[in-house]
Amino acid sequence: MASLTVRQIDEALKKKLRLRAAKNGRSMEDEVRTLLREAADEAGHAILENFEPSTKRSAARGRNVEPANGIACVLLIIAGGIAAYKSLDLIRRLRERDIHVRVVLTKAAQEFVTPLSVGAIAGEQPFTDLFNPAHEFDVGHIRLARECDLVIVAPATADLMAKLAGGHASDLATTIALATDKRVLLAPAMNPRMWSHRATQRNFAQLQADGVSFVGPNEGEMAEAGEAGTGRMAEPLEIVAAIERLLAPSSERPLAGKTIVITSGPTHEPIDPVRYIANRSSGKQGHAIAAAAAAAGANVTLVSGPVNVPNPPGVRVVHVESARDMLAAVDRALPADIAIFAAAVADWRVDNAYKEKIKKSPGARTPSLSLTENPDILSTVAHRTKQRPQLVIGFAAETQNVLANARTKLAAKGCDWIVANDVSPSTGVMGGDRNTVMLVTRGGVENWPPQSKDGVAAKLVARIAEALRQ
Ligand SMILES: Cc1cc2nc3c(=O)[nH]c(=O)nc-3n(C[C@H](O)[C@H](O)[C@H](O)COP(=O)(O)O)c2cc1C
Repeated sequence: MASLTVRQIDEALKKKLRLRAAKNGRSMEDEVRTLLREAADEAGHAILENFEPSTKRSAARGRNVEPANGIACVLLIIAGGIAAYKSLDLIRRLRERDIHVRVVLTKAAQEFVTPLSVGAIAGEQPFTDLFNPAHEFDVGHIRLARECDLVIVAPATADLMAKLAGGHASDLATTIALATDKRVLLAPAMNPRMWSHRATQRNFAQLQADGVSFVGPNEGEMAEAGEAGTGRMAEPLEIVAAIERLLAPSSERPLAGKTIVITSGPTHEPIDPVRYIANRSSGKQGHAIAAAAAAAGANVTLVSGPVNVPNPPGVRVVHVESARDMLAAVDRALPADIAIFAAAVADWRVDNAYKEKIKKSPGARTPSLSLTENPDILSTVAHRTKQRPQLVIGFAAETQNVLANARTKLAAKGCDWIVANDVSPSTGVMGGDRNTVMLVTRGGVENWPPQSKDGVAAKLVARIAEALRQ
């Protein structure tokens, strides 16, 4: 019966059937039986129950299946890092959201998680080999690269980032990443020294320039005892949020492909090891802009002074203390398409901060502080001739003559837009949840109505998207 069926179908369908059968490791006749059985199961045809022994049937069910139409499918590449264990949770979180997950494990990844546990959680067998006759008879790596909506690498090791930046195709993971026509999202995870190494930073910049999206790495404790810094893989739910943003229709991602660096919060300028000069900025506005820009599809690096607000999802956050640290972190984040300087950077710092805590002792002279000017981050970046972002936006926090001061700042700093707000204590803007701003551009002034800081962020992102379109 099966051979009759195969002979009587047209060539195109026969070819599809042949590919499908080989991919599932079945003969064409078995494939036809399986298809018929599945159709019969659906239609409730008990007549086909005895078609094959039941043990064979249940074995077939465990094999990889095509994602149904309309269901998002992501290809997750797990590389060989300690954080690979978190990728099991990532698979679970994606499946909870009805996202079909296909998994590729590098050779090194299999030292950290087994294909068995990955397969059990993903609900299908993971792929591990480039030279696998069962999958490669029809160039399976190309199909894996194309038959998904998004390629994710989590954890992305330093090694894999280097290979991807160099365009290698030396194993299944790198070959897929090179062959795909889909967007690629990387969640780096490595020791902080590996992350900050010039080679890794060079690869990171290259991959960003190639249009690769990133989530994390975050700051925090490393798996290695006593090690902390930037290099932790983003948490699974942060990666899920980044995936959902990338899977959203392009109309909801007007900043897709754009790289943005944003500063936020205050800076702390040390007086001695325990005291510092600060200001009342909470970071709420800058963090809200970072979240809105990431939600609009941008690749965002947020350089944040010391704040108590959580890191926005899907944003790479670099925590700094002083104005000089902030400028250095901004420089490392460049080149970028857009720079938004929302941080309240201290204008001055203590000239020679004390190395030890200043002691108060009876009869001793009250210490006096000599101040020196801090670098002006907005002006420095806006006046760059090389690596100047296409759009440089500054914030002007004023307590008087808001518009006049904002106009002066726009001209003096050489930026493109100024978002000006009145931060007099009576407005409650500093530390509050609402803001009333004016957008000052070379073309004129827009008075935006009072609204939440999230509202200001969303409107600013929409204005940026509009400006880039023009
Ligand atoms: C215990 C252990 C933990 C490791 N953790 C990491 C890591 O977190 N990040 C990283 O980039 N490399 C890490 N490595 C090094 C990678 O496993 C190594 O560079 C490997 O070649 C990566 O291969 P892949 O990128 O093809 O998966 C670790 C190695 C060992 C032995």
